[in-house]
Amino acid sequence: MASGQFTREEALLCQGCRHGCHVMLYADTKSRLWGRTPIRHIILMQMRYDGLLGFPGGLVDPKKETLEEGLSRELLEEVGVALPIYEEDHVVANYAPASCSKSLLMAHFYVKKLEEEQIREVERAAASTAADHGQEVLGMVRVPIHTMRTGAGLSYFLSHTFIGNARSQLVHTLLRLNMVTPEELHKALTHSLKEHTRTAEDLKATLTMIETKRDQY
Ligand code: APR
Ligand code: MG
Repeated sequence: MASGQFTREEALLCQGCRHGCHVMLYADTKSRLWGRTPIRHIILMQMRYDGLLGFPGGLVDPKKETLEEGLSRELLEEVGVALPIYEEDHVVANYAPASCSKSLLMAHFYVKKLEEEQIREVERAAASTAADHGQEVLGMVRVPIHTMRTGAGLSYFLSHTFIGNARSQLVHTLLRLNMVTPEELHKALTHSLKEHTRTAEDLKATLTMIETKRDQY
């Protein structure tokens, strides 16, 4: 595999690594936004307890369970359905950035295709029966992969803040599964960067406003 990328087997050889397993669940759909813009794919991510966007999943101890059993267990906690995950669903493993963990963390990424009705069932369970709802998981979100005339859509979604490798896992998967073209992605990321600059200015202005009004609160 490319440098910095590991297969499932290579990653499991890592001495002293902890292992985290996360999965992108998705389904094809014929539905359209406002009856016009094709949605094409329903892709699930989640708003995490730390305010970051990420994929469902979590820490797995390979001495106690297989990576896939552990990921299924995490899915039961986080989305309320113990979806079976197989070795074939494993896409890649990378070291997680140091900001994610004090010790060395191997981040395994899986992709699993479901039927549209199964995805809807996951969304319902995640908001009702999932043990982690409102705690570690604040809500599931769908990824808008369309780009509107104004540039809105995927670009704004990508300008949010993501946990670990989640943003690059998302964009690589969008390309690998031909969900967006390289040109669309390039345009969206360019727009995201511009939006990021505007957001930084907005944050600075908000901070200044709060500092000047500190005595009033
Ligand atoms: N890429 C790389 N690393 C990731 C990704 C990703 N896409 N998603 C999560 N991580 C990291 C997290 O930063 C964390 O260190 O993997 C580790 C496990 O992921 P979580 O989903 O956060 O773990 P989970 O088992 O669901 O939660 C367990 O983690 O932070 C603690 O106290 C918190 O109880 C919680 C515990
Ligand atoms: Mg988790």
